[in-house]
Amino acid sequence: IDDLLRDGVAGKRVFVRADLNVPLAGDTITDDGRIRAAVPTISRLAEAGARVIVASHLGRPKGEPDPRFSLAPVARRLGELLGREVAFATDTVGESAKATVAALGDGEVTLLENLRFQAGETAKDDGERAAFADELAALADLYVGDGFGAVHRKHASVFDLPARLPHAAGGLIATEVGVLRRLTDDVRRPYAVVLGGAKVSDKLGVIDHLLERADRILIGGGMAYTFLKAQGHEVGNSLLQEDQLDAVRGYLKRAEERGVEFVLPVDVLAAAEFPDLAAKAPAEPRTVGVDAIPADLMGLDIGPRTQELYAAKLADAATVFWNGPMGVFEHPDFAGGTRAVAQALLDSSAFTVVGGGDSAAAVRLLGFDETAFGHISTGGGASLEYLEGKTLPGLAALED
Ligand code: 3PG
Repeated sequence: IDDLLRDGVAGKRVFVRADLNVPLAGDTITDDGRIRAAVPTISRLAEAGARVIVASHLGRPKGEPDPRFSLAPVARRLGELLGREVAFATDTVGESAKATVAALGDGEVTLLENLRFQAGETAKDDGERAAFADELAALADLYVGDGFGAVHRKHASVFDLPARLPHAAGGLIATEVGVLRRLTDDVRRPYAVVLGGAKVSDKLGVIDHLLERADRILIGGGMAYTFLKAQGHEVGNSLLQEDQLDAVRGYLKRAEERGVEFVLPVDVLAAAEFPDLAAKAPAEPRTVGVDAIPADLMGLDIGPRTQELYAAKLADAATVFWNGPMGVFEHPDFAGGTRAVAQALLDSSAFTVVGGGDSAAAVRLLGFDETAFGHISTGGGASLEYLEGKTLPGLAALED
């Protein structure tokens, strides 16, 4: 983006592919972190006199307009954060988008409606994606890729569009990639990784990769129960991915061979059922050791002894990467584990990176000062795939 700005963008229509995929409750944004992260690049372009066309996806609509996934609330919040009016186009490449873009003056900003309201955005078929990318390209003169959270998607606006316009990486992508390089090249050791979240199947690639690089891997969240079961514990009604047990056993064996320390919960908070997140009624959890999880209970957070253990394992780390909450942090009774890990990151003198939509949202929702962490990534899947060493379509398209 520095090069584009040096060459001058005044009067140019600049398409900014951002990731404004924020969590919504109705039309209330519950965490605006991604919108705030998108602001600097948009501001710089607007201040330089560009006519800025911002575009993003939100959720996973099925290739047609669906009001539940409208970006209208995001346009309002973006306007507040930018301190400028954001004209909202009620479609993506239709009459509203064309008219809104045509009416843009220098330094003005528009947000297009959800890119995924068009089937071409996510189409597997190259031709279908290309046709949609052609329509998007007709709206703009230049392209800035800044939606780090979506760079792992081979989607029209991420992968095909930059090939059609002079393009650059925005400031957010540059920052995110710079940080992730510190986790892959010349990592300061000990390197500890904390992985949580619901499903172990989402983390297989990254575990595989980290077994070659990390010194210590701490496991929490729903995925921990598949590890505990693989070690011979009974996990009651906890989340369990039976089909991943063999893979997990393989990882535990490899970790032992390679001298990588795998740290699993020693106790959990368990309850009879998944808590009601809307009502937040007390769930009356019980603290139980992992060798005594009752058959009729499900583990929903790591327990107090595990919190202490994990804090101790993070205290002397020099680099920490954390992805995925330790429990159902949206409910106050099960937020303790996630809060403890966030606090342990803050207490350590390590370079700390929080990756992932959920863990980043958790840090903010639990009231932590996000500037106290080394870096909070806006990308969940994207940062994991980067760490897996995969080629990310949205970055490859910009490097070209
Ligand atoms: C995310 O939330 O990880 C990104 O916005 C990508 O969303 P997706 O997983 O629906 O492609």
